[in-house]
Amino acid sequence: MTSVYEILLWPLVTLLSVIVGIPLRMLNGCKRKRCCSPVEDDLLMIPARDLVRKIVKQEVKCHTVISRYVNRINAVNPLVNAIVEERFEDALKEAAAVDEMITQNKLSEEELLSCYPLLGIPITIKESISVKGMSNGAGSLQAKDKIGEEDADIVKAVKKAGAIVMLVSNTPELCLNWETSNKVTGITCNPYDTRRTCGGSSGGEGALLGAGASLIGLGSDIAGSLRLPAHFCGIFSHKPTARSISLSGHYPDCEDKEKWNDHFIMGPMSRYAVDLPIALKIIIKPEYKEILNLDRKVDLNKLRFFYLDNNASILVNNVDRSIDNSLNSVIDYFRGKYRMDVNKLKFKQSPYLTIVPLLAIEGTDDLYYDQPKSNIYWELLKFLFGQSKATLTGVFYFVLHNLTTKFVSKRKVEKIRVKMFEARKELEDILGDDGVLLYPTYPTPAHYHFMCISKLLDCSYCTVFNAFGLPATNCPIGYSEQGLPVGIQVIAKRNCDRLSLAVAEEIENIFGGWKFSPQSQ
Ligand SMILES: *[C@@H]1O[C@H](CO)[C@@H](O)[C@H](O)[C@H]1NC(C)=O
Ligand SMILES: *[C@@H]1O[C@H](CO)[C@@H](O)[C@H](O)[C@H]1NC(C)=O
Repeated sequence: MTSVYEILLWPLVTLLSVIVGIPLRMLNGCKRKRCCSPVEDDLLMIPARDLVRKIVKQEVKCHTVISRYVNRINAVNPLVNAIVEERFEDALKEAAAVDEMITQNKLSEEELLSCYPLLGIPITIKESISVKGMSNGAGSLQAKDKIGEEDADIVKAVKKAGAIVMLVSNTPELCLNWETSNKVTGITCNPYDTRRTCGGSSGGEGALLGAGASLIGLGSDIAGSLRLPAHFCGIFSHKPTARSISLSGHYPDCEDKEKWNDHFIMGPMSRYAVDLPIALKIIIKPEYKEILNLDRKVDLNKLRFFYLDNNASILVNNVDRSIDNSLNSVIDYFRGKYRMDVNKLKFKQSPYLTIVPLLAIEGTDDLYYDQPKSNIYWELLKFLFGQSKATLTGVFYFVLHNLTTKFVSKRKVEKIRVKMFEARKELEDILGDDGVLLYPTYPTPAHYHFMCISKLLDCSYCTVFNAFGLPATNCPIGYSEQGLPVGIQVIAKRNCDRLSLAVAEEIENIFGGWKFSPQSQ
């Protein structure tokens, strides 16, 4: 059923898709396609799970690993522009210290691995997640001098596990975009085709991991920001169950922790599905170790599979054939291999239910970091005359936020939230403790830069699971006809992260997972 608000919004969404989409397609179609070179170094093709053992067994020096990653990052960054600030020199020193510690033999191999499950593993971090002493302005020009005062809890956790921080990577201004560009570091590009976006807001991570220039990344997700860059760049990422991760050290932050916690979370991104649970186990809150029970083995034979392929709403673009094909090949695989039913879910997700509560959240850090606050409509006017320090999407978000609070009463928002929770219950009752849902991450592969404006609500494929707080894992499946990565999400009930992670590993085994094979022309 198409609802009234959809019919009302449809002309606007369609108009934008025509006046923005068509010129951008024409302009970019004329530009030359460029992509990063393939990965040739075998050392870069080892999952963290195995690499850490090689380092501990002294089959490879940690210093060698880190310097090869530095080489790869330096080779791809001129094309993708993903780095906000690097710390290669310090990383190499830390790598030498790791080698030193291992050769001293004070701890056995097993002791080393259990104390430091990521010993010597290179890790990259989204700039909005605080790393002590490094840039932490989330791409905002006003906050460009903001430095991380302390490590975020999840950064502390990965450092304690022995990982070596390489750099902080680019985000859109205040993470408020599904693409990655800002007025401090500029545009981050897709490693498969620099005319296209890497997605956002964890876009710097997506680009580096996609290009094989990082092994594990940490990102954040309030409306698809972990999953969309993963889908566009051909990697894995996991949005954990709501509230399972400490939110300390993220900029922007929010005063209304209750509602913020409903939608927002940080999580791991990786090239290899096997590395997601390893990273997740390290960063979850201690009290969630038992709840998520990530070590418990998942028997895929006992899972129930569901899928959804619906075109979510008239406000959302239809799912591309390439995405449809990927979804179908996964469905066919599980049907064939496990002789199990993969049932189509009867569930209509509504962009309205999931986006209004998000827009209505109050008390988030705004566009004015250390400057006097200004009226958002004045800011919009300044923007139109090229006088604003903010970006289009930053201004746009706060205008929408202001309009939402003006025109949708608190009571109405509460009503919508109740409906949203009812919809979640309906879905969770179907999934139970042994069900997973296969669903597109986004209707298309990576589009040209700035085209998300013409596809405003396409991200509702992702945002719905923020609103519900459900765990969701993006899995790369293969390539579209244009040679761009496509992926799907695997979703489970809250606290059943291990199910979607186990299915991701199976999908990696069958469909090949991450492989960086751009077709240059
Ligand atoms: C989605 O829309 C496309 C184009 O209109 C159509 O071909 C496809 O069958 C639709 N898919 C579903 C599941 O409704
Ligand atoms: C919306 O903008 C008006 C000024 O036009 C301002 O008074 C009001 O505080 C703003 N509301 C929010 C929630 O930002």
